[in-house]
Amino acid sequence: MECKGFVDASAVIGKLDKRCYGQFIEHLGRCIYGGIWVGEESGIPNRKGFRLDVLEAIKELNPKVVRWPGGNFSSGYHWIDGVGPREERPRRYDMAWGAEEPNAFGTDEFLEWCRLVGAEPFIVVNAGNGTPEEAAGWVEYCNSKGGTYYASLRRRYGHADPYGVRLWGVGNELYGRWQIGFCLDGAECARRTMEFANEMRKVDPSIEIVAVGCEDPEWNLEMVKKAGEYFDYLSVHIYIGGDKPYRELAAVPLDIEERLRNVYGLVQSARQRYGVKREIRLAFDEWNVWYPEAKAPLHEQVTGVRDAVFTGGVLNALQRLCREVPIGCFAQTVNVLPLIIAAEDGRMALTPQYLVFKLYGENTGDHVLKTAVDTDHYRSSGLMRPVPYVDLSATATEDGRTIYLHVVNRHEKEPAELEISFRNFTPKEASCMYVAGEKVDDRNTLGEPDRVKIERKDGTVEGGRLHVDLPAHSVNVIKTLG
Ligand code: AHR
Repeated sequence: MECKGFVDASAVIGKLDKRCYGQFIEHLGRCIYGGIWVGEESGIPNRKGFRLDVLEAIKELNPKVVRWPGGNFSSGYHWIDGVGPREERPRRYDMAWGAEEPNAFGTDEFLEWCRLVGAEPFIVVNAGNGTPEEAAGWVEYCNSKGGTYYASLRRRYGHADPYGVRLWGVGNELYGRWQIGFCLDGAECARRTMEFANEMRKVDPSIEIVAVGCEDPEWNLEMVKKAGEYFDYLSVHIYIGGDKPYRELAAVPLDIEERLRNVYGLVQSARQRYGVKREIRLAFDEWNVWYPEAKAPLHEQVTGVRDAVFTGGVLNALQRLCREVPIGCFAQTVNVLPLIIAAEDGRMALTPQYLVFKLYGENTGDHVLKTAVDTDHYRSSGLMRPVPYVDLSATATEDGRTIYLHVVNRHEKEPAELEISFRNFTPKEASCMYVAGEKVDDRNTLGEPDRVKIERKDGTVEGGRLHVDLPAHSVNVIKTLG
C-alpha cells in the first residue's frame, strides 16, 4: 500500500502539553497493593515499599501527570485514614469495590512515589460521601505553609515542606448510580462542585480544579452554566469494549477524537452563552480498552498488538487535540486494565500498549504541527464511515530542528510505503522506532514477556522527501533531523 503524508512545519496547531500521556492508578484489585506498593517487608525487591521493577518501568514512561486514588474508590475514601504511622492506620471497608483497604499507601506515599517517577500528582477528592471541609483539609495537609492543624500534622508526620499539589479533581463519575454519593443531574453536581472548589480554594487559591463531566450535553451545560467559574477542566472518561473485530477497534480513535471535540465545542458554546470568563478545557482522565474478562475484583486483562494500534491512534488524537484536551490519564497503569502486569511471584510483563506509551513519551516534540495524509481507506461498519489506513500526527521541538512523526498503520496485513513531504523543513536523516509484533493478536505475557518489542529501522531521505516502510498493524515514531 502506498501512502503520502505532508507536514507543514510552519503551521503550529498548538503547544503539546505532555500531560496528555498521563496515567491513572486506583485502589482497585492489585493496582496499588501488589503493583505500586508491596511494603518494605515484602520479598519482592522494593524501594521504601514501592515495588522496584514497576517503579523503574514507570520512570521509563516518564508520565507528566498521575491521577489517584480513584476512580470509584475516591468517592468513599477518607484521606485522613491514610496518613501517619502505618501501623496505626485503620483497615476500612471500601464500599466502592467491596474490598478491604489497609491504608498502607496514602497521601505521603503517593506524593513520594510521584516524586520518584517525576510526575505531577493529580488528586481526586471524595465528593461522594466526603465533605468540602474534608477536601479543604486535604489541600491544607498537602499545600499549606502555615501553623494550622493539618499543615502541622504533615510536619509531625515527617514532611516539613508543603508538596504544592496543583491539580485537584472534585469527584469521580458523579453522574452514575454506581458512584457513592452520585448526583441526580448536572445542576446538583454543579452545586456540589462549587461548594468543594470554594472551600478548597480558600486554603490554596492557586490550585486547578477538574470537575466531573461526561458526554451528556445536558449535564455539561448545567456544569458550565452554574459552576463554570469554579473549575478549569471538565473530565471525560471513555472505555471501549475490546472484544471487537480488529478493524473496528483500530477505527475507534477517530470516533474518540470526534467525541472529545464535540464535548469541547459544547463547553465553549455554553461558556459564551452564560458569560463564563474562566477558560475550561477537558481532562480525558480515564481511557482504555476494557475486555469482558476484566471483571471484579481484579479487573485483569492481557492486551496485545491490536490494543497498541488503538493506543497509538488515541495518542495521535490527543496530540491533535492539544489545545482542547491537555490532560489524558490512561486507566490504569498497573495490574488493573493494565499497561504493566506485575505478578505476585515477582515477574513482570510490559504490554504492547506500554511500549507505545514509552515510544511517545521518549520521542515527542513541543509543538503539534498540521499534517495531511493521502491513503487508502476501509469502511467501519460500527462507525459507518471510511477509516484511513494510515494516521499521522507530527510534533516539532522548540528549536524546530527535529520533527517527530507519529504514524499508525491500521492495515492488518499490508505494510505501508510512506512518503512524507514537508513545508518549511528540509529533512536530512530519519530513523524509525515501532511496535508491530508479528500478528495483531501477539501479546507479552509473564511466560513470554518479550514477544512484542520496540524495533528500529532507518528511513531514507531523497530530494527533501522522507521514505519509510511501515509494517502492518504498527505504531511508529519517526525522528527526522533537519
Ligand atoms: O478504571 C476503573 C473504573 O472505571 C474507575 O474506578 C471508574 O471511574 C470507571 O468507571
